[in-house]
Amino acid sequence: MPALVLLGAQWGDEGKGKATDLLGGSVDYVVRYQGGNNAGHTVVVGDQKYALHLLPSGILSPGCTPVIGNGVVVDPSVLFSELNGLNERGIDTSRLLISGNAHIITPYNVTVDKVTERFLGKRKIGTTGRGIGPTYADKINRVGIRVQDLYDESILTQKVEAALDGKNQLLTKVFNRRAIETDQIVEELLTYAERLRPYVADTVLLLNKALDDDKVVLFEGGQGTLLDIDHGTYPFVTSSNPTAGGACTGSGVGPTKISKVIGILKAYTTRVGAGPFPTELLDEDGEALRRIGHERGVTTGRDRRCGWFDAPIARYATRVNGLTDFFLTKLDVLTGWDEIPVCVAYEIDGRRVEELPYSQTDFHHAKPIYETLPGWSEDITKAKTFADLPKNAQGYVKALEDMSGAPISAIGVGPGRDETIEINSFI
Ligand code: GDP
Ligand code: IMO
Ligand code: MG
Repeated sequence: MPALVLLGAQWGDEGKGKATDLLGGSVDYVVRYQGGNNAGHTVVVGDQKYALHLLPSGILSPGCTPVIGNGVVVDPSVLFSELNGLNERGIDTSRLLISGNAHIITPYNVTVDKVTERFLGKRKIGTTGRGIGPTYADKINRVGIRVQDLYDESILTQKVEAALDGKNQLLTKVFNRRAIETDQIVEELLTYAERLRPYVADTVLLLNKALDDDKVVLFEGGQGTLLDIDHGTYPFVTSSNPTAGGACTGSGVGPTKISKVIGILKAYTTRVGAGPFPTELLDEDGEALRRIGHERGVTTGRDRRCGWFDAPIARYATRVNGLTDFFLTKLDVLTGWDEIPVCVAYEIDGRRVEELPYSQTDFHHAKPIYETLPGWSEDITKAKTFADLPKNAQGYVKALEDMSGAPISAIGVGPGRDETIEINSFI
C-alpha cells in the first residue's frame, strides 16, 4: 500500500504545509524525515492560520498520526513550545511519535551555528540560526546526542563531554567565547526527558508495520531540492537530504514501498538566504511578487528573494527525486501581469545550456533565457476545476507541465485548504 513522498521542488517555501494538510484527512501517518525547526510550514484551515516548524503538518488532522523520524534534528525546547501553542488552540497533540534515534539540537549547537555565521561575515550562508548544520555535523562526526540518550544519564554525560571537548577548544581559541560546562548541558537536557518519554517510539518498526497493514503513510519534506546537501546549490544549502532518498534514510522505510513522489512547485521562484538564483528579480516585478505572494519567511521573518519560474530547476527536481506528480502552488499570485516570462534555459559564458549545470562556477554565471507567456487578469481564487481557469492561465500551467517533466496533478489558487484545483488524485 502506498507510501507517498511530498517535497519541495525549488528552494523551499513552495507550499508543502498546505499540500500536506490537504492530504491529511486521507492518510494515516504524516512523517517528517529530515531537517528541524529551520522549516516553516503554513497551514490555513478556515479562518485559522498555523505556522509549524518541527511538527509534521498532519498534527492538524484528527485521525492522522504525526511522526518525527530518525533523520530529523529535534530542539526539545522548540518542540514543547510548539506543542503548548497548539494545545492552547485546542489541538490534540497526544498522537505524536518521535524516533529514539532522532538527534537533539543542543544549546551549544545553536551557539556554534550563530558564531560560525558571524565569523564567515559576507561569505555567510544565511542560515536560520537554529543549530541545524552543527547538529548534523555532530551526527556525522559521531558525537551527536540522540533522543534515547536522555534515558541513560551516564551515557548522556559521556557523550556531551565528548562533544564539548572539541567544541570548547573552538569556542574559546577561535571564536573567543566562554567554554560551555558539561554539567549545565546535561542538567538542561535531563529536564526534557520525562515530558518527551510518552512520544518516544521505535518509529521504524511502527511505520513498516503500518505499511504492511495497508495504512497510508505520507512523508513531508522540509526545505527543498536545491537546498539538499548533495543535490542542491552547495555550499548554499541546508545540512540534510530533503530529496526523495532522504525519506527512506530518514524514516527506515525502504524505497520499494514508495509509490508516489510529489514535487511542490511554486508558479514562480523564491529563495531565502545567500546563494545563486538566476531568475532573481531586483526590480518592481520582484517587489510585486513579494508583496502579492506575502513572501516573508515563516521562521526568520526575512524577506524572500523573488523571481520568475525556472524550468531547468523543475526538470532537475523531476530527475533527482523521480517525481511522479507536481502540485503547482500560488498560481493566483501571477494574476494581473500582461505577460509572464518563464526561464526555459540558461546562457552560460555565451553557450545555451538546457539543464541545470553540475558546476557551481557555471551556475553562478547562468543568465536566464526567457520565453514570454500571455498573462490573465481574471480572479482565479474561486476556480474549482481546470476548466474554470481563464485560457491563458490554462496555457501557463500546460506550458510549465511540458517543460517540467511530470504531470501537474493539483493547482493552488489561494492559501486555504479548499483553494485547490485537484486534477489527478494522489491516493
Ligand atoms: P512551505 O515551507 O513549503 O510549507 O511553505 P510556506 O508556508 O513557508 O510558504 C508558503 C506560503 O504560501 C504560505 O503563506 C501559504 O499559506 C501560502 N500558500 C500556499 N499555497 C498557496 C496558493 O496556492 N496561493 C496562495 N496565494 N498562497 C499559498
Ligand atoms: P521550509 O521547510 C526556505 C535555508 C536558509 C539558508 C539555508 C541553510 O519552510 O521550506 P539552515 O538553517 O537550514 O542551516 O540554513 O537553508 N532554509 C530554508 N529556506 N525554506 C526553508 O524551510 C528553509 N530551511 C532552511 O535560509 O539559506
Ligand atoms: Mg516555509
